[in-house]
Amino acid sequence: MPQNLEEKEPEAVKPARVLAIANQKGGVGKTTTAINLATALAACEKRVLLIDLDPQGNATTGLGVSPEGRARNSYHVLIGEASLVEAMVETVVPGMLVVPSDVNLSGAELELIDMPRREHRLALNIAAVRQRFDYILIDCPPALGLLTLNALVAADAVLVPLQAEFYALEGLSHLIRTIERVKRHLNPKLEIHGIVLTMFDRRNNLCDMVARDVRAHMGAAVYETVIPRNVRVSEAPSHGKPVLLYDMHCAGSQAYIRLAREVLQREQAHSAASELQSSGPQSSGPVSPTPVS
Ligand SMILES: Nc1ncnc2c1ncn2[C@@H]1O[C@H](COP(=O)(O)OP(=O)(O)OP(=O)(O)O)[C@@H](O)[C@H]1O
Ligand SMILES: [Mg+2]
Repeated sequence: MPQNLEEKEPEAVKPARVLAIANQKGGVGKTTTAINLATALAACEKRVLLIDLDPQGNATTGLGVSPEGRARNSYHVLIGEASLVEAMVETVVPGMLVVPSDVNLSGAELELIDMPRREHRLALNIAAVRQRFDYILIDCPPALGLLTLNALVAADAVLVPLQAEFYALEGLSHLIRTIERVKRHLNPKLEIHGIVLTMFDRRNNLCDMVARDVRAHMGAAVYETVIPRNVRVSEAPSHGKPVLLYDMHCAGSQAYIRLAREVLQREQAHSAASELQSSGPQSSGPVSPTPVS
């Protein structure tokens, strides 16, 4: 267990907010967003845990975790062989811990089928560490199987990275229907935190068209911040670093800093609204799932 975890255990603080980074489509920037949003939140002095729930282990690698550091990982947590505290390790980012994953996790989908409360296993584990962090981010695999379901049941809100390309809205509507089903049957508090357009190329007309379409259908759910396609972002993982540590001044890093700011603004709006116990619609906090027509 990382040392700073023991030192920092608070007595009575707000429990962590849990954000799942999900989209069943592959290669849309989930892991990049998870790593860099987590890093930017840690830079704002938030205590951050990133749970790698993808057997590809890209978030684990991208944060410079050595193979030994993966000995106990999210697979062991899901099947009940380790607690989150036993599995979490330090990262290259001060104040940020990661629960690594490795290929074993692909077997968990099958192993979980016969286990009790199979969709709730991550949520139950997270409940035990919620007081230790301000934010817990979950990097989901590119599928809507039991792993992503565990993340959606554990989460307060979902952050959806979306690449502006043809069929983007169709994929999004499928994801939103899944989120609505989870909200109805398994996790009534689940909301959509927001949709972030990723790998955006301003010179590409299709990108622009799709972005306008997504904003027209999803309105305030879409963050103002757009993550540009940027070569420094794609280079950073091979150095085992978030782009924010690799090149803080590049356009990709600056965009992720703006995204973190927007996420924190929505969080403030959300916590102010919960304090007022307002049940009305919120203009800038996380939004309830709305189907895409
Ligand atoms: N803004 C960006 N600019 C340039 N390259 C990017 C950007 N965002 C992500 N990439 C690159 O695109 C690829 C896919 O990104 P990433 O791994 O974050 O997607 P993913 O949705 O997590 O993929 P998967 O579904 O396989 O888990 C990676 O090689 C990544 O480095
Ligand atoms: Mg990924």
